[in-house]
Amino acid sequence: MPDQVTMDKIVSLCKRRGFIFQSSEIYGGLASCWDYGPVGVELKRNVKNAWWRTMVEERGDVVGIDSSIIMHPMVWKASGHLESFTDPLVECKVCHQRWRADQLEKQVCPSCGGELTDPRSFNLMFKTFMGPVEEAAAVVYLRPETAQGIFVNFQNVVTTSRKRLPLGIAQIGKSFRNEITPGNFTFRTREFEQMEMEFFVKPGTDEEWYAYWAAERYKWYVNLGIREENLRMREHAAAELAHYAKACVDIEYLFPIGWSELEGIANRTDFDLRRHSEWSGKDLSYYEGTTNERYIPYVIEPSAGADRSVLAFLCDAYREEEVEGATRVVLKLHPALAPVKVAVLPLSRNERLSPMAHDVYNRVRKCFVAEYDDTQSIGRRYRRQDEIGTPFCITIDFESLEDGQVTIRERDSLAQIRIPVEELVETLQAKLAGESFGTDLWAGART
Ligand code: GAP
Repeated sequence: MPDQVTMDKIVSLCKRRGFIFQSSEIYGGLASCWDYGPVGVELKRNVKNAWWRTMVEERGDVVGIDSSIIMHPMVWKASGHLESFTDPLVECKVCHQRWRADQLEKQVCPSCGGELTDPRSFNLMFKTFMGPVEEAAAVVYLRPETAQGIFVNFQNVVTTSRKRLPLGIAQIGKSFRNEITPGNFTFRTREFEQMEMEFFVKPGTDEEWYAYWAAERYKWYVNLGIREENLRMREHAAAELAHYAKACVDIEYLFPIGWSELEGIANRTDFDLRRHSEWSGKDLSYYEGTTNERYIPYVIEPSAGADRSVLAFLCDAYREEEVEGATRVVLKLHPALAPVKVAVLPLSRNERLSPMAHDVYNRVRKCFVAEYDDTQSIGRRYRRQDEIGTPFCITIDFESLEDGQVTIRERDSLAQIRIPVEELVETLQAKLAGESFGTDLWAGART
């Protein structure tokens, strides 16, 4: 990670430009909860849409679902989460701060140096009550992963989608974990969004598919502009594996806090379907007509965090450049992810420029996510567009009124070209499709 990027700079840019705000800020904020602002919500939507496009739409062997966050409590018994989804919690006997024992370097409180209690297992699932009575029988949980909604719908999907194995089921949605030590901005929060896909395969083919999905997922980040020097794969040691996994590899990103998990690809074997079969009493096996075999499928699971991906894309795109003696902060986001693709900026708010500028805006916004801005100096408006990662700015000046031409300014090269208004949409389409940003960039750009 280049020295220029720090978490503080990312947090500050996010607040300054409307990517991410502290939740409930006017009440002093709620620890580790964050709200996405106008450009943040576009960026996050673009990340999720790019994932859905690659993982579902561009494939014939993956379908999607959207399951509920609150599920039958038996789901969590069967999945092992009630018993095993725990972290070792220790508390400082002096200042009463709580810590994850497995993350401590020394066996004293990192905050005050006080003595710590013995570790106890702390279950990370949020508990609440379903209905008006707060009693044990009404206890339900907010899901800590979206995956279980997929497993319990496996038979429904196989029956209704008329698909054969190997078959993937994808889902994007909120998950909740009562993390002991959340922090580092949106890296670890208690409410977050996951992008998960469970790929059901014949036992014996699972290791091949595991390697396949690890490589595919790595490629996804690279294709969306993450620099390879900031990505690496890390295979889990046996002691690290989750209770359901036979193998797991993390795709790690070099965040400003150091190398950290971005996504995990796990071989979950037949653990989940087998357990749900046992606990529900329903047969969740699969019949393979071509070989006349019946088996419980194995599952390969690429599981990514939407918020953590957004953070990685922001960190990777962040640059500080010296331009004409001044520092320019620019987000070199992949055009498919950029919240705004084109900004229309009349040179000033002069009433003679306004009709043509609005005409240009109306043309481009039919084809791209576009923004119109005629406030403040043109320099300040460029600065804002650079900081939100807008690939192209179009300026309309007094000469435009004479010759019908406008200027396109390119975010990364700062090159400017003048073209007739009639050619604008076509030119931008070609440029967003990769003429100046590399290849295959149109995919997802109009999501
Ligand atoms: N279904 C498997 C599963 O949930 P995980 O490694 O616990 O696996 C997958 O989570 C991804 O979800 C992580 O790689 C990370 O991107 C994201 N994630 C997990 N916990 C998170 C948290 N507390 N805050 C933000 N993202 C989180």
